[in-house]
Amino acid sequence: MRIGPYQLKNNLIVAPMAGVTDRPFRILCKKMGAGMAVSEMVASNSLLYGSEKTMRRANHEGEVDPISVQIVGADPKMLAEAAKYNVDNGAQIIDINMGCPAKKICNVMAGSALLQNEPLVQTLLEAVVGAVDVPVTLKIRTGWDKSSRNAINIARIAESSGIQALAIHGRTRACGYTGDAEYDTIAAVKAEVRIPVIANGDITTPEKAQYVLQHTGADAVMIGRAAQGRPWLFREIAHFMATGQHLPAPQVAEIRAVLVAHLQDLYDFYGEYSGTRVARKHISWYTKGLPGSAQFRHHMNQLPSTEEQMAAVCEFFDLQLERGERLHYGEELAA
Ligand SMILES: Cc1cc2nc3c(=O)[nH]c(=O)nc-3n(C[C@H](O)[C@H](O)[C@H](O)COP(=O)(O)O)c2cc1C
Repeated sequence: MRIGPYQLKNNLIVAPMAGVTDRPFRILCKKMGAGMAVSEMVASNSLLYGSEKTMRRANHEGEVDPISVQIVGADPKMLAEAAKYNVDNGAQIIDINMGCPAKKICNVMAGSALLQNEPLVQTLLEAVVGAVDVPVTLKIRTGWDKSSRNAINIARIAESSGIQALAIHGRTRACGYTGDAEYDTIAAVKAEVRIPVIANGDITTPEKAQYVLQHTGADAVMIGRAAQGRPWLFREIAHFMATGQHLPAPQVAEIRAVLVAHLQDLYDFYGEYSGTRVARKHISWYTKGLPGSAQFRHHMNQLPSTEEQMAAVCEFFDLQLERGERLHYGEELAA
């Protein structure tokens, strides 16, 4: 899989997720096997304010190439400025978000709302491609709703505007996150354009990744929710694709080590106050399915400091280890 000058080490990509795919999570997923990770979206108008959040999102220290930053907006000039700002701050690929269904975004006619306005899509894409020297990629849904699945039109516009890869989430905007993602539209797009196509939506296992690649003919798959608390999913898929065999699930001792290192990175990146809060959701994801985890999460969510949070996590995992040294993630322990 190649995007402009960047040859990815494989065709497994971490989906952009606001509030999730921050620098620590992107670095971790790449370390655990992902070929690329797209940043959380950066709103193009937020550049005006120079907020702490925007500055943090433009910090890529220690990140493995290629660094892909997603921008969102509906004003060609502002979107082009946002692209330039992010390239000046280390972005090696600019990704444009036309997939987000959130009301906050769609009400200003950005994100997936743009799919309704093909001429504006073209203007926006040309403005960004013309503003930066790095590859520009695009992420879309299959359309606005089931009666206007215009992904093929958008893909043609993207290709002719100089977009260098296209990610498609197999749902319409109207679907939100309900129902199952469908892959026929992605296959139809892949058959129409020559730029790399990335298939996204509901990929949760190595078998599903393989099925989606085969069914759509896409060049890569993009994975979001299934990687939350499971960054090793990328190495599991990569291994399965290479050998047809499953890697054993990670043992609790490894999950403990991965989580502890992840928490330390989050604390360093966000500081004491935000670090504690951002970490809570990750801890919940990592511990889901382990014995006693619901009670633990309730307790952990009350803890106000990074020190207490880290101590509670270590204690929880030590208890798991004491109860069953060979326990595998997700397995039930006999009482
Ligand atoms: C918490 C969360 C935040 C998301 N934020 C973004 C975003 O900032 N930009 C974007 O293009 N998509 C965003 N998405 C959509 C995902 O990138 C992806 O398209 C969607 O979750 C479907 O893939 P999945 O089934 O593998 O999760 C977000 C999804 C979730 C669950």
